[in-house]
Amino acid sequence: MTTNKLEWWQKTIVYQIYPKSFLDTTGKGTGDLNGIISRLDYLQSLGIGAIWLTPIYPSPMIDNGYDISDYTAIDPAYGTMADFERLIAEADKHGIKIVMDLVYNHTSDQHKWFLESKSSRDNAKSDWYIWRDAKTDGTAPTNWRSIFGGSSWTWCEERQQYYLHTFASQQPDLNWDNPNVRQALYDAANFWIKKGVGGFRIDAIIYIKKPQNLVDGKPDDIDGTVSVHNMIANTPGILDYLYEMRRNVFDGHNIFTVAEANSVQPEELKYWVGKHGAFDMLFEFNHLNVMFPDGEVWYNSKSWKLTDLKSVLTASQAATSDNGWYPIFFENHDQPRSINQFCPAGADPVKSAKAIAAVLLTLRGTPFIYQGQELGMTNTAFSSINEYNDIASYGQYELAINAGFTPEQALKFVQFFSRDNARTPMQWSTDKNAGFSTGKTWLPVNENYIKVNADVESEDKDSVLSWYKQLVKLRGQHEELISGTYEEILTDSEELFAFVRKLNDTELTIIVNFSLNNVELPKELTGKTIILDSETDNINTKALRPMEVRIVE
Ligand code: NOJ
Repeated sequence: MTTNKLEWWQKTIVYQIYPKSFLDTTGKGTGDLNGIISRLDYLQSLGIGAIWLTPIYPSPMIDNGYDISDYTAIDPAYGTMADFERLIAEADKHGIKIVMDLVYNHTSDQHKWFLESKSSRDNAKSDWYIWRDAKTDGTAPTNWRSIFGGSSWTWCEERQQYYLHTFASQQPDLNWDNPNVRQALYDAANFWIKKGVGGFRIDAIIYIKKPQNLVDGKPDDIDGTVSVHNMIANTPGILDYLYEMRRNVFDGHNIFTVAEANSVQPEELKYWVGKHGAFDMLFEFNHLNVMFPDGEVWYNSKSWKLTDLKSVLTASQAATSDNGWYPIFFENHDQPRSINQFCPAGADPVKSAKAIAAVLLTLRGTPFIYQGQELGMTNTAFSSINEYNDIASYGQYELAINAGFTPEQALKFVQFFSRDNARTPMQWSTDKNAGFSTGKTWLPVNENYIKVNADVESEDKDSVLSWYKQLVKLRGQHEELISGTYEEILTDSEELFAFVRKLNDTELTIIVNFSLNNVELPKELTGKTIILDSETDNINTKALRPMEVRIVE
């Protein structure tokens, strides 16, 4: 395959923005669209070609925009539709497309569809959501636990029935079996296509289709209920709806789609992505889940080895080598910062950020950089559970307490895994609040902003930001990094992650030391020409220092 045959989105780099935390231009403490517009030069200089915006639609913000109350408007806290149109136009001048988040498994409980649906059992939208009678003893229809903890059913007085929610009770699941629901969703997506968006990230899509009969599942040892995920993910028949959506929305436009879809099995991948699949790319979580083999319960995280991480990444590279395309990511708005999650405790944070960056920008696929990752932003631990905003953090805290952990221990799990770690304000400068806002920020700014910020790093050739730019440039110069094959080498090493990207007669070898040790290189890797190294002086051609990256020809 040569680059010419690839689509624009296979050759580009995507930057994910969490608008609430990106840049505030009004002093209200939360970011806005004008803030994004004002930083397009910065994003262009980083070399990205698309921005994925997490939801900016009107929302009560119970789950920070993943609870949408209107699919075809902009939340006033972010700006106006005119601001959005300006963002599309200005981004275009910078060679950047705007990608929207489609949250179609559920709406907010304040969406007018839900307000109507819940008002009676016989209104026009009465079956737009999943309603069920109570069990004869009055309890919820099934023993399912929602992803955020607690029952996945909530009682509704008006209808004297329960409704299903995979996530929070304020996020009722839509009934995709109803063709009117599907059409309304397609219409909303087409509204954004007409505005000129460059693609969609599709949220929680594996949950849209529910089984015919909703029945109790086998209780697990978490709390004697069963995760809703195990009962509804990838229900047979789901693909029919996804193909219908592709035909009605995505087909025939110069856009890309990337769907959030963990637990799709490799043998099913061909139905999900690629020429005949439903989407262009799938975000799967195998590499994020190396520490959660039994499902994502934060108190249950396991220690893991580098070979665990390497083998799942290599499996994903293999699975997408001629089927679909891999979206490479180590961070997003739901994960701890990658330095904390993937690098050994005690490793130098700058070197760690560079190590992750090297893998992100040299694996085969489209890299997704999450805001602040290019600066080496890290986790922030708040000192009490009440300081957290993230709804998942409260559910996980509760699970830990119910499992017998002390409040201090439960807080520790939250401090490490909370989604707020990724959501603290973007660090722009050494100014008040890291230059993010002049007002009281919605989440505290990470104290390390004095050192870790875009202004300071732009002036420092050894910064994480400068390293990102060097890697992006390298991608532009070496076709093998875009369309070349991937082959892992030194597979048994618990210290080095190494692989070869090869195209015709040219190849690059990427070697990253993910350990705190100096590691000798095998002989065959020592005599090669060094193209890029994260260490700038006294390079030892025969060994790598802790967290050092070397790219050789
Ligand atoms: C996945 C999103 O990334 C996450 O932030 C959200 O809470 C859930 N889906 C529910 O929409």
